[in-house]
Amino acid sequence: MIVVMHLALDLKVLYFGTPVVLIGSRNPDGTSNLAPMSSAWWLGQSCMLGLGNSAQTTANLLRERQCVLNLAPSSMVDAVDRLALTTAAPVVPADKAAIGYRHEPDKFAAAGLTEQAAELVMAPRVAECPIQLECKVDAAHRFGGPEPYATAFQVSVVRAHVEENLLVPGTHYVDPLRWDPLIMKFCEFFGGGDNLHPSRLAEGWRMPHQIAATGT
Ligand SMILES: Cc1cc2nc3c(=O)[nH]c(=O)nc-3n(C[C@H](O)[C@H](O)[C@H](O)COP(=O)(O)O)c2cc1C
Repeated sequence: MIVVMHLALDLKVLYFGTPVVLIGSRNPDGTSNLAPMSSAWWLGQSCMLGLGNSAQTTANLLRERQCVLNLAPSSMVDAVDRLALTTAAPVVPADKAAIGYRHEPDKFAAAGLTEQAAELVMAPRVAECPIQLECKVDAAHRFGGPEPYATAFQVSVVRAHVEENLLVPGTHYVDPLRWDPLIMKFCEFFGGGDNLHPSRLAEGWRMPHQIAATGT
């Protein structure tokens, strides 16, 4: 194996590749919110979620202590990208407005997705998502520094819904060959290892890489 020289440097972005989750939560006026996010990892029946403090979803989770994690398959990339650069916050925070965010009161309509009631929590499921995890918030930690800019939410899964055709037949295991998650890598969308779709998030962040036109 050839060993290539390493450069020691301050990386500007550390988004190496994580699954995209559409977090369903309840806004203060009772309407549904749906936010794309990808700082999520699971251990046992718990999950850690990293959410910026200016997101409406962060306020919703602190207040309601519940949410649904709707896992996006790679085929849902169009709908996810339509939700990028939107917020349910009535006043768009200045740093978000500067990169093109707009207020969107009806995320389901904007994305073209279908709302489905959850069974144990007051937060929306996305009918088109093959995996939906109803969750309770167990703890919230201030995250980032020197001035915390985000909140790390520890949630536990209280009910999981999975499309039958994703399961290893006769078991309660998701078949890794059938589940093709939408992956966010350095602000771009990947599925099955391939770049899928132009990304508004990458555009908003003015990411320096050049992606040859692929997918739709
Ligand atoms: C693919 C993708 C991944 C994202 N990942 C995160 C994330 O991990 N954490 C976060 O706070 N925001 C993330 N965002 C940005 C949020 O969607 C944004 O903060 C939005 O304002 C949340 O909506 P809300 O304000 O209505 O809650 C991501 C956006 C996209 C499109």
